Amino acid sequence: MVTWEELEARCRQCQNCPLSETRTNVVFGVGNRQADILFIGEGPGEQEDLQGEPFVGPAGKLLDLMLSLIDLDRSKVYIANIVKCRPPQNRDPLPAESEACMPWLREQFRLLRPKIVVCLGRIAAQRMIRPDFSVTKEHGTFIEKNGILFMGTFHPAALLRQPQNKPEAFGDFVALRDKIGEVCVHTY
Ligand code: URA
Repeated sequence: MVTWEELEARCRQCQNCPLSETRTNVVFGVGNRQADILFIGEGPGEQEDLQGEPFVGPAGKLLDLMLSLIDLDRSKVYIANIVKCRPPQNRDPLPAESEACMPWLREQFRLLRPKIVVCLGRIAAQRMIRPDFSVTKEHGTFIEKNGILFMGTFHPAALLRQPQNKPEAFGDFVALRDKIGEVCVHTY
């Protein structure tokens, strides 16, 4: 089986879709490679593209805050995106781009073997949980697939635009903390 180091090195060379032509950096993922919890966002924004790390811009600051509210940080979870290269003008990734990038996330999944997967926003939730998943209606519920618990919640960038949803998003993180207590032995 491929190692994390091999996978990351190969991913950094990827030219599977046209996003590779406009990227500054591949944003592979960050965090604890032994974590039980995987967060999946949509794709890198401007700051992530420049720094090569997921969620380091304004949305990332909010994600860090929400993690800290339930005593988590980047050393206890792993954070990745559906697409590893920034879509121009931060547009949604095209289905073909997400498809082209999925083999990297699949390998990350195989290596990490997460117990809980948190999908940040519609793009990740619809790709990972169900194509018609509604974040507004179904956020915070845990859905088991092949022994792994998936939960969709608001994307932190959406929360910056619609702060009225922050209490509900915080509720989802509290539910996450409780679920971690139930199914993860090493996180807290
Ligand atoms: N938004 C995302 O979905 N992912 C990032 O890494 C940054 C912002």
